[in-house]
Amino acid sequence: FDRGLLSGKRVFITAGPTREALDPVRYISNHSSGKMGYALAEAAVDAGAQVTLISGPVNLPAPRRCQRIMVESAEQMLAASLENIDQCDIFIASAAVADYRPSAVAEHKLKKGKEEIMELHLIKNPDIVATVAALDHKPFTVGFAAETRDVIHYAQDKLARKNLDLIIANDVSRSDIGFNSDDNAVTVVGHDLVEQLPLCSKRQLASKIINMIAAKQVD
Ligand code: PMT
Repeated sequence: FDRGLLSGKRVFITAGPTREALDPVRYISNHSSGKMGYALAEAAVDAGAQVTLISGPVNLPAPRRCQRIMVESAEQMLAASLENIDQCDIFIASAAVADYRPSAVAEHKLKKGKEEIMELHLIKNPDIVATVAALDHKPFTVGFAAETRDVIHYAQDKLARKNLDLIIANDVSRSDIGFNSDDNAVTVVGHDLVEQLPLCSKRQLASKIINMIAAKQVD
């Protein structure tokens, strides 16, 4: 592992889940632990990069030698991602961002009513990685694709639709990899590339992904 591989590069990484508030005490979220994103931040720091980690709520300590910005919602994650984006060379979106949020946040705790069914209205959240990839001077932009079926096919679709340079396809139908596990196995999909990275710890996998990004960014 070459420690100078990303020296002088600024890397932004989104990690963890977002929380979309319903009222002051409730939210919609998912099972992302942040482990994959934090492992990527550590690997990028080890490769010599200056790293900004934009993190949803997780129970992990900040990796050493990186700047961490804590956020809750997708809208906050977008705002934090766009701050200083003109200085960013590589943007890696490993966060599990909620696709939708409640259309209104109740000011007070919602009360249980007599009704057996309660309907929630949701509106679409902004797509953070697609917003970054649509910028005029876009950084080298890497997304993740969490899928439960047709993993490569959907990843290729997201790569094109979101204008990404690389996408990491993650089969999240398996409980030994993906959300919240310590290990992971992924397929790295680029415009001229499909490469499987077999099961290993998220930290080992993160180093392999960072090496591949560094190599791609140079060509
Ligand atoms: O956090 P861990 O427990 O370690 O788990 C890791 C992980 C499974 C969360 C991670 O490896 C992973 O797959 N992250 C992406 C999860 C996801 O939301 O995938 P998606 O296919 O829904 O989104 C595709 C891409 O768009 C992702 O890069 C995502 O960050 C991005 N996105 C999605 C929606 C949105 N509103 N904004 C985004 O930027």
